[in-house]
Amino acid sequence: MTSTDITSLSRHAARLSGIRIADLFAADANRVTRMSRRLGAMYLDASRQLIDADTWQALLDHARAAGVEPARDALLSGAVANPSEGRVALHGALRAGLPEADATGVVADARRAANAALGRMAAIVESIRDRPQGIGLPRITDVVSIGIGGSDLGPRLACEALRHERGGGPRVHFLANVDGDRTAEACATLDPASTIVIVISKSFGTQETLLNGSVLRDWLVRALGEAGANARLFAVTANTTAAARFGVAAERVLPMWDYVGGRYSVWSAVGLPLAIAIGMDGFRAFLAGARAMDEHFAMAPLGDNLPVWLALVGWWNRDFLGRSSVCVVPYDDRLESLPDFLQQLEMESNGKRVRPDGSPVELPTVPVVWGSVGSNAQHAYFQALHQGTDIIPMDFIGVVQPHHALADNHRALLANLLAQSAALMAGKTQDEAFAELSHVADAAERQSLAAQKTFPGNRPSTTILLDRLDPHSLGMLLALYEHKVFVQSVLWGINAFDQWGVELGKTLATRIEKALVDGDASALDASTAAMLAQIDRVGRSAS
Ligand code: F6P
Repeated sequence: MTSTDITSLSRHAARLSGIRIADLFAADANRVTRMSRRLGAMYLDASRQLIDADTWQALLDHARAAGVEPARDALLSGAVANPSEGRVALHGALRAGLPEADATGVVADARRAANAALGRMAAIVESIRDRPQGIGLPRITDVVSIGIGGSDLGPRLACEALRHERGGGPRVHFLANVDGDRTAEACATLDPASTIVIVISKSFGTQETLLNGSVLRDWLVRALGEAGANARLFAVTANTTAAARFGVAAERVLPMWDYVGGRYSVWSAVGLPLAIAIGMDGFRAFLAGARAMDEHFAMAPLGDNLPVWLALVGWWNRDFLGRSSVCVVPYDDRLESLPDFLQQLEMESNGKRVRPDGSPVELPTVPVVWGSVGSNAQHAYFQALHQGTDIIPMDFIGVVQPHHALADNHRALLANLLAQSAALMAGKTQDEAFAELSHVADAAERQSLAAQKTFPGNRPSTTILLDRLDPHSLGMLLALYEHKVFVQSVLWGINAFDQWGVELGKTLATRIEKALVDGDASALDASTAAMLAQIDRVGRSAS
């Protein structure tokens, strides 16, 4: 990015600092048409951002000048997108489907491998759902999916979001945290005979997953013996040797590949829990939804390209309006895990401070991504969103058609969603608040109350409405954000596909665990050593 670009966009920001979003609507009768788009079952409205027509054009011009289009084409054609690990990033190939003939090179290879894995996955899914006797199992009622980070968040979100598509399929339980609490509960409450365990780990070296996996494997062995346990133990990994050492038979190990990052992997066999829950037709519809977004991302001009829109809006808010966090609020309980999923997707991908050549980035990178479901969130932190000192841009996500028949509930839910984004933008002036307080006789009290009841407004948001939440629309939604993250990485000039920042803590945890065993804290810092002493003291007095 040239300093001229920064200066020019900063000028736009300075100009808009005195303007209210609401006034942009008054000045441009076509604003909603210009700043919203429909793609299949998705409607996206970015009109409530503090961006006018000139700024929007400048942002699109910058995206073009920054090389978003060639970078996208390079990503999709299998160029190295993850230079620090010398890898391509081919999550798109996982959902590209058949035929493979229209691809070449590594992309064609990846598509062939993905389709072969899908075939194996389909056989496993159909056996478990429809013919368990064929693989020596009784009816399977429960699936325990063990994994963490990208090996957990995607399948967890998708299983929750699509839980009403399960029909008679098994229940799926997720174990991620190394905290033994949920793991012990799973062992105490599930029936090993009718449960299968899937250990998902790209590396098959992740401490949390291996610990939880061992506990569940031993639980199966204790109840059913080695053969019974083996029949119920599955793995998804790029490290088949480690999975075999762990005790998973080769025919029950499904592949991952080094060219698919964990947080982009739900489209691979990492989605096995989802496929077992909703069946292969549903899983293929999920892939087709992502494919529809991929095709849009690849083909649509920048000015109509939804992932590019989301990326530019987020980049603008972060780097030119100085917003350091973004709050994601889905108004649908089924999307409860979406903020967690996006947190990893965005923050692990773009939480970087240097470029691939080691030079520092010029502008702040990923904002903090957080949020939770509406309308619950309204009764927790929306006070700060409306009247706090920080301006926090929002992503609102709604689903037009509910899956249930409680029309009154759903109407109220949608009304709340629309009301919040409107209220954040409009606010309430001190004069309006003052006028509403005519019953307060004391003038000073009326003034001070009016100040407290004033809403500054002008708080930006983007709203995404899905016609319905089904495998296809969920696939579209997740792929939308994946591509948004990639476009932002291009704007920042960083590598979205590595995650060196998670390594240091892992290494230190190994050393501290050793100190917890041998009591030798001499190599650790004073604060850690003091806490180890406290832990030791409490442990000794309890035993
Ligand atoms: O926390 C880092 C990380 O490597 C994530 O990127 C990844 O999704 C997660 O750990 C799990 O890794 P694995 O699938 O190798 O167990």
